[in-house]
Amino acid sequence: MVMSNYRDSYAHSLEKPAEFWLDAAANVSWSTPPHHAIDSSRAPLYGWFPDGVLNTSYNALDRHVEAGRGDQEALIYDSAMLGIQRRYSYSELTDLVARFAGVLRSHGVGTGDRVVIYMPMIPEAAIAMLATARLGAVHSVVFGGFAPRELAARIRDAAPTAVVTASGGVEPSRRIEYLPAVGEALTLAGAEDVPVLVKARDGFAATVADHAGWLDWDAEMSTAVPAAPVDVKATDPLYILYTSGTTGTPKGVVRDNGGHAVALRWTMENIYDVGPGDVMWTASDVGWVVGHSYIVYGPLLAGATTVMYEGKPVGTPDAGAFWRVIEDHQVNVLFTAPTALRAIRKADPEADLLERHNTSSLRTLFAAGERLDTDTFHWARRVLGVPVVDHWWQTETGWAICANPRGLDDLPIRAGSPSVPMPGFRLTIVDGEGKEVEAGTEGNIVLGLPLPPGTLQTLWGNDGRYVSSYLQAFEGYYATGDSGYRDEEGYLYVMGRTDDIINVAGHRLSTGAMEQVIGKHPAVAECAVVGLADSLKGQRPSGYVVLKSGVDLPEEILEKELIALVRRDIGAVADFKHVTVVEALPKTRSGKILRKTMREIADGDEFVIPSTIEDAGVLNQLVAALRPAARE
Ligand code: COA
Ligand code: AMP
Repeated sequence: MVMSNYRDSYAHSLEKPAEFWLDAAANVSWSTPPHHAIDSSRAPLYGWFPDGVLNTSYNALDRHVEAGRGDQEALIYDSAMLGIQRRYSYSELTDLVARFAGVLRSHGVGTGDRVVIYMPMIPEAAIAMLATARLGAVHSVVFGGFAPRELAARIRDAAPTAVVTASGGVEPSRRIEYLPAVGEALTLAGAEDVPVLVKARDGFAATVADHAGWLDWDAEMSTAVPAAPVDVKATDPLYILYTSGTTGTPKGVVRDNGGHAVALRWTMENIYDVGPGDVMWTASDVGWVVGHSYIVYGPLLAGATTVMYEGKPVGTPDAGAFWRVIEDHQVNVLFTAPTALRAIRKADPEADLLERHNTSSLRTLFAAGERLDTDTFHWARRVLGVPVVDHWWQTETGWAICANPRGLDDLPIRAGSPSVPMPGFRLTIVDGEGKEVEAGTEGNIVLGLPLPPGTLQTLWGNDGRYVSSYLQAFEGYYATGDSGYRDEEGYLYVMGRTDDIINVAGHRLSTGAMEQVIGKHPAVAECAVVGLADSLKGQRPSGYVVLKSGVDLPEEILEKELIALVRRDIGAVADFKHVTVVEALPKTRSGKILRKTMREIADGDEFVIPSTIEDAGVLNQLVAALRPAARE
């Protein structure tokens, strides 16, 4: 059936989901094509294409070589940090991936085994992911900005057969040595025996030789026996990606092979309008879902060229870096986080640096990871002169819940809105009791079950937590954790999280995890971390602590110690740099800290005076502590 526009496609996907997605599945190459779409046998946990068999790495690589496009560029590595550019054709990338899969196999990795990948933005990160997928094994990529403890928590949960890493990452201010961090994480996780493969990079102090038994990537590759793609069931896991939950324990989002390939292929054509011969650049990191879906899998499944950028939007060397990359690689579609656009705008308000570059190849700019504020939207639209498309999604969904599907239709773009729900997402806004609200009324954004292909299957090894975290609040729905409203024409406006997750420079972080770390300090009786509005990063965490009685520690010293603790246990990326001592925290009668009230106070909104703070002096001190921080 030919679908001509958004409205028809969306209606079709809800009325006949099996037919819609089996049609879409025809764009994927299967060893055994599926005849069934939805597996409801374990409802409310659903699966997609239960009788389909395929290999994701084959679909991303070999398939294009076999179609005669082996010489086309698959991946372009551009390091603004090191001034290096490297290009890989589909044939070259297929060969490297097959060989690295052989390396992994020779160290015991087989179908279903986990491989933890802790890598900077270098091509070997993508190669390791695709090689793992080639064996039907399951990768779990951990963002390089996370500290050893966070890495250890993921190693403990995923129980990998191998770990793949590199000497380190290059940040503008310093080099981050990965090997000591990996060593510490393995010790913390009690996993010292797990083989570690190391891609050596110049300019780092620690080397593979410092660790007995660790293996050098290049040496291993020189003798590797290439591995062919291994058939797996569509419902078998492709990867685990840990993301912040409300508690300090990260959630291992599980993605399948078949649903993922089908959904991402659909998005490339219909949302991004990218196909063979096009160049897509997603300026994110492979450690985030955006990197998984649109640096690695999406563009390669579509046979396009992907750009992997090791650098920042500003300072590497200047705010023209993005425009330089667009020109150098003739980028057609750029996908970035609003915070990156804000950083460029701050440094170069009129985008004067754009004049030095020819960016005429650019067709569309996509933004996600946090709300695209209307000022930044209008600015980007004006300076670039191309459509700017906000789209809203999360690690759990793997692809856009709401977007403006540029390949499918020509829907109007509205500032401040990520537009309309994508096929298969039965989006509804409900009040606290689960009752649907009217257009224009804010409420919880929920999605009717089953979710479409490519969305999370469960949480790794923990179906119970999947159900309790997402499916229990509103019967029959998946709770996104975001609040928002829809206008009369169905356009969505996302207002923020309903839980204790904050978004710092497009990075999703748990305030609960930071509180756990701060609570370990011997001087701290209790604490709360809230995300305060920030003009560059969207939000920035700010800590409020109540001291144990009798403690006499100067506030500046306590602040330094707590900042160092969060940096050590979570990572620099949390950007935790602000601590205030308060006499009391607002709480419910049952003792739950009212973070929402704290945010309201900080943002200058009206707030209900917490009944647990009876002393006006204590309340005034809390208000004074919260308000100046918000204005910084
Ligand atoms: N490995 C190790 N450390 C990292 C890291 C990584 N991969 N990424 C960031 N960090 C560190 C930085 O070095 C910095 O450390 P510092 O406090 O010692 O200076 C800290 O984490 C905060 O870094 P960052 O978030 O990059 O903030 P910044 O102030 O240096 O730069 C921006 C601001 C806006 C330029 C930057 O946040 C940015 O590029 N944001 C876009 C992020 C993005 O693409 N997100 C996409 C998610 S979809
Ligand atoms: P992550 O799982 O890291 O991708 O973070 C997902 C969360 O980021 C969502 O639940 C939202 O709170 C927020 N988010 C992502 N994209 C957008 C967007 N386009 N508009 C508003 N919020 C967004």
